[in-house]
Amino acid sequence: MLLWQEMEREGLEELVFCHDPHSGLRAVIAIHSTVLGPALGGCRYWAYASEEEAVRDAIKLAKGMTYKNAVSNLPYGGGKAVVWELPSAKAAKPDTDSGNGRHTAEDSIAVESGVEPSGSNNLNRNVSQRAHIFRTLGRFLERLNGRYVTGLDLGTTAADMDQIRLETTYVTDTTGSLGAQNDFTAEMTAYGVYTGIVTSLHHQGVTSLQSIPVAVQGLGKVGHALCRHLHAAGARLIVADVVPERVQRALVQFSGATLADPAHIHAADCKVFAPCALGGVLTPATVEELRCSIVAGAANNQLSHRERVVRRMQARGILYAPDYVLNAGGIISTAYELEGAGPDQIRQRVAEIAGTLTQVYQRADASGISTADAADRMAEARLAQP
Ligand code: NAI
Repeated sequence: MLLWQEMEREGLEELVFCHDPHSGLRAVIAIHSTVLGPALGGCRYWAYASEEEAVRDAIKLAKGMTYKNAVSNLPYGGGKAVVWELPSAKAAKPDTDSGNGRHTAEDSIAVESGVEPSGSNNLNRNVSQRAHIFRTLGRFLERLNGRYVTGLDLGTTAADMDQIRLETTYVTDTTGSLGAQNDFTAEMTAYGVYTGIVTSLHHQGVTSLQSIPVAVQGLGKVGHALCRHLHAAGARLIVADVVPERVQRALVQFSGATLADPAHIHAADCKVFAPCALGGVLTPATVEELRCSIVAGAANNQLSHRERVVRRMQARGILYAPDYVLNAGGIISTAYELEGAGPDQIRQRVAEIAGTLTQVYQRADASGISTADAADRMAEARLAQP
């Protein structure tokens, strides 16, 4: 991998490699752009298969944050940190489902003093190693002097952010913050997606969700919260998840909801398809099977073979709500919490996704380009004139 070439191709400002032999930290911080303000984006903790995979992920994610923050009109650039998860630290992984995994005070003391808590076993050692890793990362972040602000992402917890906070203030989502409450962030993301679905329907002349069939793929934190909004507005839900209990919960909670096969829900007979599970669901094959007229969901990186898929959706008259415009509720929430906003103000800011999406659709209509390209151009225009 030729790093400068890669940086040039992706327009990346800075790549910081972090290594600490004492904690075992191996991390990459990618600062894609600080044109609009400090780079803002979470910290991922992941067992990468290779060094190259970790670096590429950091660059791709950081660039994605630049575009998401720019199109959402936030005073932040884009960045991301990825920490390479060591096999020995795996056993210590706290419950990431709640996003609130806690290390004990004893663990922090152990890190500070370099001494294991009394009665320590392998798990304690691993937990304290994890704490040590994130605290050390905090020192690296401090040296960046605020050019990058980190927060939660896949595999990290509020307890990890607390460790970083011991060394630097350039971190969000620490214990007690709104961002540390995974449900709040997911709720804001879901609210943004809901707002975007309503905006997309309006664009096609539909003014009410009453009896409108909406297929939701993935009933996790965001998908379930989205179903709640849609159901309250009278939509007819079609749902799918690979975890049967989540489907069951939705069928019980949302009267009239029907079940679809998770592998084929994209082909459901519906008005709106909302991917809220994995990325890459829109492929050259699945796009031919779509029966909806709108694709609008929370999942990141929904397009596989971007150009082909986008062209086919455009040709078939399917309105695509660009994923990073629609799912920006979480980062909007983080950005405004950093400015001191409370839940009500944050909700108002998230609702502005409607205006952003309308501009994307207007720009696409006016110039005959795809909505995906229109979103990119809007972000790039903002970056060109900060
Ligand atoms: P989650 O992990 O809580 O939920 C994902 C759900 O998808 C799970 O219930 C899982 O069982 C289900 N699933 C996995 N594979 C599936 C398949 N093949 N078919 C149907 N269901 C499947 O994740 P969360 O937080 O709800 O996020 C959903 C998506 O939105 C992800 O792509 C995430 O990257 C994206 N996103 C989430 C944000 C947030 O605030 N949580 C912010 C921005 C994007």
